[in-house]
Amino acid sequence: MSKTPARFTLDPAFTVGEVDPRLFGSFVEHLGRCVYTGIFEPDHPSADEAGLRTDVLELVRELGVTAIRYPGGNFVSGYKWEDSVGPVDERPRRLDLAWRSTETNRFGLSEYIAFLRKVGPQAEPMMAVNLGTRGVAEALELQEYANHPSGTALSDLRATHGDKDPFGIRLWCLGNEMDGPWQTGHKTAAEYGRIAAETARAMRQMDPSVELVACGSSGQSMPTFAEWEATVLQETYDLVDYISLHAYYEPQDGDVDSFLASAVDMESFIENVVATCDHVGAKLKSKKKINLSFDEWNVWYMSEWQGIEESASRDWAEAPRLLENNYSVTDAVVFGSLLIALLRHADRVTVACLAQLVNVIAPIMTEPGGPAWRQTTFFPFAQASKYGRGEVLDVRVDSPTYETKKYGEADLLHATAVRGEDGSVTVFAVNRSRTEPLPLEVALSGLDLTTVVEHSALADADPDARNTLADPERVTPHQVAGTSLRDGTLSAVLEPMSWNVIRLG
Ligand code: AHR
Repeated sequence: MSKTPARFTLDPAFTVGEVDPRLFGSFVEHLGRCVYTGIFEPDHPSADEAGLRTDVLELVRELGVTAIRYPGGNFVSGYKWEDSVGPVDERPRRLDLAWRSTETNRFGLSEYIAFLRKVGPQAEPMMAVNLGTRGVAEALELQEYANHPSGTALSDLRATHGDKDPFGIRLWCLGNEMDGPWQTGHKTAAEYGRIAAETARAMRQMDPSVELVACGSSGQSMPTFAEWEATVLQETYDLVDYISLHAYYEPQDGDVDSFLASAVDMESFIENVVATCDHVGAKLKSKKKINLSFDEWNVWYMSEWQGIEESASRDWAEAPRLLENNYSVTDAVVFGSLLIALLRHADRVTVACLAQLVNVIAPIMTEPGGPAWRQTTFFPFAQASKYGRGEVLDVRVDSPTYETKKYGEADLLHATAVRGEDGSVTVFAVNRSRTEPLPLEVALSGLDLTTVVEHSALADADPDARNTLADPERVTPHQVAGTSLRDGTLSAVLEPMSWNVIRLG
């Protein structure tokens, strides 16, 4: 055990900002088995009249996701929205170039909205338009079809398709990862800034209340990073509300210590994008602030994926098994730390989407015709969404450190705390040490807290433990004894490599 405890002080006078419920968003892409045999499987024993798997719906509700981004991802850059509406038997089969798959369009726009409505009122659409192979006109047509009440060709067409009520989509992404050379219709920053501005202006002409996300970089390591954001925002600053960020993490060359500190990169990415947004705002002498939509984040074993060749070997298959990562306890601890990073920046990160929701780098897995189960990463997300609502308190840790190859000296403790409306406080904390427990002392100043409601932890003697089809409940959070609150000090011991949720009432 580290002899020196990690310490911080909580004081309601020092806050970061209010958590936007959209911070707990997710992502459904037409990729692999996310849609087909994931959320939608008409032949499944649990399927409802719409073909949605009710076992998956229950898990999605338990996970507590809010905004659900759709239909891609790379998929959106070849998406023809009109293929995905109307009588199912008349919908065309199409080549999906992004994932070298065949898209049947049996699940489309109307089915996505029906899915969201069944998830519940907390689920909100977040729709991407195709700015890869298409442009302003098609974005406007989709917007009219989806949102215009009635009395025009496309809104009336929606009604004849059985959807009399408009879908009410407020949040729109202007394309996806347009900085990436892999993207169909990839553009330079100037080209994308221009088409994003034109599309945004036109979409606002139809409805000034839409909220728009411009594409930022696909990662902080992209060669065009920061310059891309600056150029795009120079064109779009007054027209958009958010700039997007995407980041995926995995251990490189077996370096687990650096992997455990992945949030160091995520936090610097966020802070660098905030700085770039504010720099452009200052140059334009604007009072407006651009917020951040971290609309793809996760642990992803990307280097294990053979790229498009792997998809090609499946010969334009329908819903092939792609990117079905099975997450360990180590992955879940890193994942929890990424959630902490998002909460610590809740003042500017007001939308975030866990990529993705089912089967594809996902917290929920399914078997066709078989069960659905929770991956290890399911638990930190569900707990953060349930208890991480309210005001984020400013947590400045004084922690013992360890050495990492990638990030130099890193704190062993990564933590945040959220104060609910009822005055209760939840501390989210990760111990990054692979071998040593970490004592934690939190001074509570000006907070009327008297009891530890629970201390839940995700940790395991086997850091490689996972939930699988054969053993779907191998890993679940457990209760930790001995955590106390005395004389205004919370004392706890965090197990080696653990994700912790300490609820104070
Ligand atoms: O989430 C998987 C893929 O990762 C998305 O399609 C793309 O946007 C990103 O590169």
